[in-house]
Amino acid sequence: MLVFQNNQRWAIISAILLATSRPTIADTSIYSKCQTPTPNPLTGCPPNTLWVSQTDCAADFTTIQGAISSLPDNNTNYTILVMPGMYIEQLNVTRSAPLTILGQTPTPNEQGDNTVTVYWASANSNGRFTDNAFTSVLTVAPNLAASLTGSGNTGYPVPADTPFGCIDFRVYNIDFRNVATEISAGPSLAVSISRANAGFYFSGFYSYQDTVYVGKLGNAYFYRNTIAGQTDFFYGFGTAWIQHSWIQMRSCGGGVTAWKGTNTTFANKYGVYISDSFLNAANSSIAPAMVGKCYLGRPWNAQHRSVYINTYMDASIRGQGYEKWSSNPLTDNYNNYTIMAEYKSSGLGFNLTARIAGNVTQEFTADQARAYRTPKDVFMKPDGSQSDISWIDPAAYNW
Ligand SMILES: *[C@@H]1O[C@H](CO)[C@@H](O)[C@H](O)[C@H]1NC(C)=O
Ligand SMILES: *[C@@H]1O[C@H](CO)[C@@H](O)[C@H](O)[C@H]1NC(C)=O
Ligand SMILES: *[C@@H]1O[C@H](CO)[C@@H](O)[C@H](O)[C@H]1NC(C)=O
Ligand SMILES: *[C@@H]1O[C@H](CO)[C@@H](O)[C@H](O)[C@H]1NC(C)=O
Ligand SMILES: *[C@@H]1O[C@H](CO)[C@@H](O)[C@H](O)[C@H]1NC(C)=O
Ligand SMILES: *[C@@H]1O[C@H](CO)[C@@H](O)[C@H](O)[C@H]1NC(C)=O
Ligand SMILES: *[C@@H]1O[C@H](CO)[C@@H](O)[C@H](O)[C@H]1NC(C)=O
Ligand SMILES: *[C@@H]1O[C@H](CO)[C@@H](O)[C@H](O)[C@H]1NC(C)=O
Repeated sequence: MLVFQNNQRWAIISAILLATSRPTIADTSIYSKCQTPTPNPLTGCPPNTLWVSQTDCAADFTTIQGAISSLPDNNTNYTILVMPGMYIEQLNVTRSAPLTILGQTPTPNEQGDNTVTVYWASANSNGRFTDNAFTSVLTVAPNLAASLTGSGNTGYPVPADTPFGCIDFRVYNIDFRNVATEISAGPSLAVSISRANAGFYFSGFYSYQDTVYVGKLGNAYFYRNTIAGQTDFFYGFGTAWIQHSWIQMRSCGGGVTAWKGTNTTFANKYGVYISDSFLNAANSSIAPAMVGKCYLGRPWNAQHRSVYINTYMDASIRGQGYEKWSSNPLTDNYNNYTIMAEYKSSGLGFNLTARIAGNVTQEFTADQARAYRTPKDVFMKPDGSQSDISWIDPAAYNW
């Protein structure tokens, strides 16, 4: 009999799942010509492409934020092409017209080959900042108020007249690392998206706590990304769909997901949806100590909604799946509208007997799962009507 190490087993199962699951990226996205290194780096790029390089003095900018800040706040679409490098800066996108940021790479379909990394080191420990928003490597929001997390059951009261931010923001082949700490020690965001539509393709997000924040009226689509964290590393108020991605647990803490719904959650589908993806211990050195210890998620308030769909879970995941947040007074009404669910999970981290005995995780029936079949089902306006999803790259969306 063949005996596989955890890693090997994972690689094999990943290959099978990826080969059989739903969407497939087109061989060449509309940006791959622009991303491919050529003697003139801008060959194959759309009109209005700015060029960022730390080393080439012919480039338009030496920092990515320099290029972002130069953009007019009008209706023209822009693209920013970034040459290989380690960029130590915080990025903040406030414009409302479309913007695409591309990392240069000969292999746009391989996140592992990315040549551009944006680093920042900031954690909101011991009340160092008035809000988690200030820690993020990348922020996409029309203004500061829109991006604030706030506290309490409903979070920061964003003024109703706050405009919507970017209607179509995209990143291809860039990694974002918040390297404040090597353990969960306060919120340290890699990305923060509020009142904006954002798609991330073949990109990476790394920190230990609160890594991915999708704030109020934020819509975010992640395709073939690696997202690594320890505590509540998908959190927010908005809507996030994670497709075909690698979720790396760097230790166990809190839950993988921690969402806070709002009083309109009954109408719309604010929440986080993790589909056709892989939850694994970040590496084989830490995996043995994590067996049976990580929770799928915990409810940041009673309107928490997260659903794992057709996702592989390694042995790190606890038998019961999700956990209650007993010390959190905002979550006293579990089986009414808190949705902590999964559908067609697989792997050693999925133990149906233990899930049922735990009485926390909801096992969706095919009927229940139908409401969350595709991103089109969940990206909604606050009143529950279908919202436009043309900001999602069609090459990474072919249900
Ligand atoms: C936006 O501003 C840029 C730079 O000033 C200009 O070239 C472009 O024509 C403007 N677009 C619109 C739609 O006004
Ligand atoms: C600008 O971007 C929008 C949204 O992605 C797209 O529909 C439109 O065709 C683009 N316009 C141009 C001139 O490329
Ligand atoms: C982003 O930029 C806007 C406009 O300059 C600023 O008001 C806001 O504070 C910035 N956001 C963050 C999180 O720093
Ligand atoms: C494994 O992951 C942990 C947690 O991120 C990290 O501290 C450690 O350096 C990693 N070990 C290896 C061998 O990559
Ligand atoms: C939701 O809460 C907001 C702010 O607290 C309030 O203005 C709004 O009327 C509430 N909506 C519903 C449907 O209860
Ligand atoms: C569920 O919660 C809603 C909102 O608080 C409340 O109106 C409703 O009565 C509750 N239903 C049950 C069965 O507890
Ligand atoms: C699944 O969970 C049950 C109940 O906790 C336990 O008895 C059983 O050993 C578990 N199975 C595996 C394969 O871990
Ligand atoms: C499961 O939990 C709910 C409350 O969250 C409770 O009403 C129900 O009795 C529990 N079921 C079992 C079998 O323990």
